[in-house]
Amino acid sequence: MEALVINGGMPLHGSVPISGAKNAVLPILAATVLHGGKYVLCNCPDIADVRTAVEILQTLGAQVTRVGDVLSVDTRDLCGYMIPGRLMLQMRASVLFLGPLLARHGRAVLTLPGGCPLGHRPIDLHLQTMSQLGAAVTLVEEQIRCHGPVLHGGTVCFPFPSVGATENAIMAAVACHGSVTIHNAAKEPEICDLAAFLQAMGAEIKGVGTHTLYITGGMPLHDADYTIMPDRIETATYLCAAAACGGEVTLQGAHSDHLIPVIQTLRQAGCTIEEQDGITIRSDAVLTSVEEIETAPYPGFPTDAQAPVMAALLRARGKTRFSETVFEQRFAHVPQLRRFGADIRLSGAAAVVSGVETLVPARTEACDLRAAAALVIAALQTQGESRIFGLKHLDRGYDNPERKLSSLGASIRRAQ
Ligand code: EPZ
Repeated sequence: MEALVINGGMPLHGSVPISGAKNAVLPILAATVLHGGKYVLCNCPDIADVRTAVEILQTLGAQVTRVGDVLSVDTRDLCGYMIPGRLMLQMRASVLFLGPLLARHGRAVLTLPGGCPLGHRPIDLHLQTMSQLGAAVTLVEEQIRCHGPVLHGGTVCFPFPSVGATENAIMAAVACHGSVTIHNAAKEPEICDLAAFLQAMGAEIKGVGTHTLYITGGMPLHDADYTIMPDRIETATYLCAAAACGGEVTLQGAHSDHLIPVIQTLRQAGCTIEEQDGITIRSDAVLTSVEEIETAPYPGFPTDAQAPVMAALLRARGKTRFSETVFEQRFAHVPQLRRFGADIRLSGAAAVVSGVETLVPARTEACDLRAAAALVIAALQTQGESRIFGLKHLDRGYDNPERKLSSLGASIRRAQ
């Protein structure tokens, strides 16, 4: 089985580019379904989830080609409205094709999406939204069948700011006959990126970046070119690696305003972080724990950074209490981090990390995307050879991690 072989314990030095944001490019690729046109998307990461989204588009009849980090998408001949179950199961973002397919064809047939096992992760809010906008939604065994030749305007109120449900609501609303108001919308930077792309296509969306969005449906849409925002969670991951290993690392193209809680945490832990021309972090690898980290929807502490930051603080002096409020089961990385000798106690939705002097090399297996990143960070700071399995999870969301880490001086290679 393929593994990353990491000989850790060395500081990291150098500069690496941050790739385009996975959680922005995926809804934007889905949005190209809304209008039969030609789109040039720059700064697209070369990751498994993007390859899955491209395969979904091609299965529906679109033409997609990649040159470097540029994806050219032609959806003029896109005529399909059914997404095969095997593609739905490969990632959570496959559900983001629901709104666009309903908007384009008046119908959509899909199954429940896959994705990281972080708890139940239902799609009830996605389906309720489609019904509120006029679609008939029926569940027949595993199949979700949506039929709505005419979507009308209205008001959508989310009980909590769901990222994916907000994205599906915006994309369906763009095609409604009338206006749509979304209350308690999520306002992650990736949603702002989707909205900016839709506006480039001709959509009229007001309130972007707030919890209340106003969409004027039925505006004529057209081709658009767009550059995807940098990936803030990839940025957080490399910041955590540098914090834990020590050294000086510059992340080219990173936007610090997307990561304020993570930057504040690493500064409190003893790192120096400068924010111009990207982000530069300096660390002596001797960190101090921060008392409390509680994940929350944006602009709170990002849940996707919880595992990487936990890995960075495994040797920090003192204790850090992590409270996970977004997903009900997002501590699957804890048993794997303990194999490195980490001292982590779980109690319900909280995990308490007590810093240890040294970690020991381990053989571990990742069980989800950000857990995989946490294991890499643990291995990088540990003297000796560690092996990390379950790389399919890492490859879903990180573009060439071993190349980037090797360029920073890490001893890391992929082996069978
Ligand atoms: C998006 O997932 C991201 N994925 C996740 O990133 C991220 O962790 C999450 O937002 C929160 O920021 C993509 O953008 C592709 P939610 P999503 O809907 O849309 C519950 C990563 O590592 N919920 O905001 O699925 C749900 O179970 C991934 O890159 C419902 O109950 O997140 C969860 O507890 C992991 N009903 C909470 O809401 C619904 O209909 C937040 O989920 C939808 C969600």
